[in-house]
Amino acid sequence: MIGFIFKKLIGSRNDREVKKLRPLVTRINEIEAGLQSLSDEDLRKKTAVWKAELSTIEDNAKLAAKLTEILPEAFAVVKNACRRLCGQDVTVRGQPLRWEMVPFDVQLIGGMALHNGKIAEMATGEGKTLVATAPVYLNALTGRGVHVVTVNDYLASRDSEWMGAVYKFLGLTVGCILHDQSPQIRREQYSCDITYGTNAEFGFDYLRDNGMATRKEEQVQRGHYFAIVDEVDSILIDEARTPLIISGPAVRTFDEQYGQWKPVVDSIVRAQERLCARFLSEATDLLKKLNPTDGSNPQNPDAVAKEIGLLLFRVKTGQPKSEALMKVLEEPANLKLMNAAELSLHLDQKKVELYAEKEQLLYAIDEKSHDADLTEKGRNFLSPQDPDAFVLPDLTTAMHDIDVGPEPDARKRMEEKAKLQADFEAKAQKIHSIAQLLKAYSLYTKDVEYVVQENKVIIVDQNTGRLMTGRRWSDGLHQAVEAKEGVEIERETQTLATITIQNYFRLYLKLAGMTGTAETEAGEFFDIYKLGVLVIPTNKPCLRKDANDSVYKTRREKFNAVLNEIKTIHGQGRPILVGTISVEVSEQLSKMLSREKLIHSVLNAKYHQQEAEIVARAGQRGAITIATNMAGRGTDIKLGAGVADLGGLHVLATERHEARRIDRQLRGRCSRQGDPGSSHFFVSLEDDLMRLFGAGNIVKYMEKLGLEEGQELEHPLLNRSIGQAQKRVEGHNFQIRKRTLEYDDVMNKQREVIYGFRNEIINSTDVRDRLMDIMEEIVISKVEAHTKGDYEANEWQTRALADWVNLNFPLGMPEEEIVKAAQSGKDAPVPGSVFDGLSAAQFAACNFISDSIRKAYELKISFEEPEKLVTVERFTVLSAIDKLWQEHLYEMDSLRYSIGLRAHGQRDPLIEYKAEAFKIFDELMVNIKTEICHNIFRSASSLMAFENFLRNVPQQTLHQTTSAFGGTATGSTSAASQKASDVVSEAAAAVEKAKPVKLGPKVGRNDPCTCGSGKKYKQCCGR
Ligand SMILES: Nc1ncnc2c1ncn2[C@@H]1O[C@H](COP(=O)(O)OP(=O)(O)OP(=O)(O)O)[C@@H](O)[C@H]1O
Ligand SMILES: [Mg+2]
Repeated sequence: MIGFIFKKLIGSRNDREVKKLRPLVTRINEIEAGLQSLSDEDLRKKTAVWKAELSTIEDNAKLAAKLTEILPEAFAVVKNACRRLCGQDVTVRGQPLRWEMVPFDVQLIGGMALHNGKIAEMATGEGKTLVATAPVYLNALTGRGVHVVTVNDYLASRDSEWMGAVYKFLGLTVGCILHDQSPQIRREQYSCDITYGTNAEFGFDYLRDNGMATRKEEQVQRGHYFAIVDEVDSILIDEARTPLIISGPAVRTFDEQYGQWKPVVDSIVRAQERLCARFLSEATDLLKKLNPTDGSNPQNPDAVAKEIGLLLFRVKTGQPKSEALMKVLEEPANLKLMNAAELSLHLDQKKVELYAEKEQLLYAIDEKSHDADLTEKGRNFLSPQDPDAFVLPDLTTAMHDIDVGPEPDARKRMEEKAKLQADFEAKAQKIHSIAQLLKAYSLYTKDVEYVVQENKVIIVDQNTGRLMTGRRWSDGLHQAVEAKEGVEIERETQTLATITIQNYFRLYLKLAGMTGTAETEAGEFFDIYKLGVLVIPTNKPCLRKDANDSVYKTRREKFNAVLNEIKTIHGQGRPILVGTISVEVSEQLSKMLSREKLIHSVLNAKYHQQEAEIVARAGQRGAITIATNMAGRGTDIKLGAGVADLGGLHVLATERHEARRIDRQLRGRCSRQGDPGSSHFFVSLEDDLMRLFGAGNIVKYMEKLGLEEGQELEHPLLNRSIGQAQKRVEGHNFQIRKRTLEYDDVMNKQREVIYGFRNEIINSTDVRDRLMDIMEEIVISKVEAHTKGDYEANEWQTRALADWVNLNFPLGMPEEEIVKAAQSGKDAPVPGSVFDGLSAAQFAACNFISDSIRKAYELKISFEEPEKLVTVERFTVLSAIDKLWQEHLYEMDSLRYSIGLRAHGQRDPLIEYKAEAFKIFDELMVNIKTEICHNIFRSASSLMAFENFLRNVPQQTLHQTTSAFGGTATGSTSAASQKASDVVSEAAAAVEKAKPVKLGPKVGRNDPCTCGSGKKYKQCCGR
């Protein structure tokens, strides 16, 4: 209370901050008044003058100071340009739109908040699109590129065209990144002063540029200077739950399993349906016993009630989306019985009864945690002969048993173990495929979670209602849904590049955002992005009337009520926007309206092409528009003539969304810019939100009241408890986001190192230097690994060292020469150099080896075409990085998964993850460099250059020792060289794979041997 009075007296901190900006507004308006007399040409000239001046400032701090200095005038220029545009038609998404906007004072304040790197919270419909223009213009003057980020392609192209009118009038260029553009087009869009696009497009371009491009010309972005994120909560909070992933076909897949197991799963699902139907009918019979119609007293009511509860719970576990079950649970008393049974099962620490309950089924589904489990019965059903077909062996014990078992032959024991391992993997995969199929059948509903179009399964984004073309559920789930729908099963994919939204936006030097709903998430914005929130007052008071939610027991009753309200409001001539939560519901409702002969349009993921048109009509007199969340954020519905007098647009929602913000966004489609309007939400106890997250209290309440069929419940307190259920979901999602980010932070550091390395190579004109440095580094590590201190014949493994050299480089270096070099070493390395810590002998050996490699390399490149050489060298490095980095991503995925499994122990999985990730990253860096070394001599710009080079490598040395080059090896059959020749064939295979030119042994079997012995190849080295 005291706080409240205090605030009243001196205003909140927010108010004070807003107040501080007022004098600047006055200043802007004064300057703008002065600009009105200029010619269009003179106004435009200001852009060029500022651009020229700002382009000379490199220092970030100085640049920022200069921008702040010119802010009032630049904002005034934008305001003035808007004024000049008034009355003109701008073509936006194919529709003419009359320009009638001159920024209001509050919009200028919002613009300053954005320039200052804050989140401007401005209510829906306050004109945030226009707010962005002033700070965008100001910052675009630097020429460094300003990105405006929107939630979908529609808004990106709408805003770039709409606001483009101002920028173009002032002489700036505007681009827009859209889903299907080629790299060439994208680069052009990025080279504009201002670029609009969705977060996914920006993020994927970053990943492609840094993780996949091999030449500078393939990169499309040109830095991350300033981003203004529209609908910032949607992007930085909701979307941030899942990282952006670019994937390619996986190396190993088990895709065929899904098709193979589908018929069996079909039949087990049907069997379970029958089973559940039986349980349900038993339950309804018992219900009759519990409530005898003849008025007699039931026998053993408690036991009967418990039994009913258990039966219902069993059906819920077996078939969570069963409509018959829903119907029974429409009766709150029945729901209560089921909840009581579930609670008592969970109370038991050991969960013996819970387990026994599940065993009554063929499989158990956990709707909340999205798990599916086969039971004993289910395993028997699938494989009556061998129920163990679905039981994983205890690998550790089994391996141990083999070790201590009677088998004396070590090789046989190894074989047994390998068999065991293979058996384990096959079973694990089988179990996984079936679990995914069961999930696909039990939890994923067509037209809710996904749609099927053109023989493809496409995910529907649950927050925006849009199709997520190209995105796939991971871990085989997508394949399982494809199998279920009988469409073609696409190959399983593996991650090629990935980043979280959070880490992408942290790349920007300056970040700002705007939305109607940020304040509730202010803490998260500050923690993660260092973004403060400034709440900007509205231009005119908001006139919207929000009705209390109407709660019904069942969906059916709810939809009847919705239909009645549509009819009533439609009768008054007011336009109506009906928000639904899924494509399926929007189509159901559409059918209901058609039956009533009510003309309407449907806007859902399936009809997104007509979006602009549908939105343009939605505010006209008598219009009825059904929309999924697609018509949520950003959609600007303009009222038709006379509609305001009737009461404006009415927004009606058929369900509450998981997050409160999304509901508020939907309400915000009406009463924009001081228009009249109203909103009303309808809820039923069968809605997912209510079922899963807290209908408890409301059910109790409804029961007490003893509601009649079709009767509704409505009270502010009820809104509160629904809000609480939403809060719980929000909290849950915040935890997921935080977790994703904590894990990604580890990856992020690694990604920075790798992308930094890649870019250094892409941008460098002298890759050779770097190549030779890497070679030297690896030589040092190899020498260190094979030698110790001063030269000692027994301590130094010069043989192995020479083998390594000769396997990787075409030197034919005899072991003795390394020894000789080491023995002659006198000088210790310079302290602080890369050689620091080596003995004089080691130092000399390193020098000898790397100098020899350098010389050979000089020889090699003397046969190359100089202009192609840089490309080849760059490729040598990049291909090694990419190959191993992608394998690393795969490994990190599995690491996360396996750590997740280990998390049942007492250890903190994140700490373990970090420790192991660090270790494997270290290994990765060494592996990359080793791989690069290995490839230095294996790539050539043309086959001819390579052959010339090989011909000039001293033939003698090629014969003398093992070499991976030219396909020659000594004829010796000693164990060591046997092993070496295995490596040789591996190396030859690697040569085969090397790009850009495939190289391989070029000697025919009847040709003279390359070793110069004079014999035929097949009788000499080719034997
Ligand atoms: N200065 C202005 N003068 C007149 N009309 C304006 C002005 N600014 C904005 N408008 C109008 O207000 C309406 C809403 O604008 P806009 O869609 O940008 O709002 P928004 O704040 O982005 O809303 P949402 O939160 O839904 O995205 C538009 O029809 C626009 O023409
Ligand atoms: Mg908007």
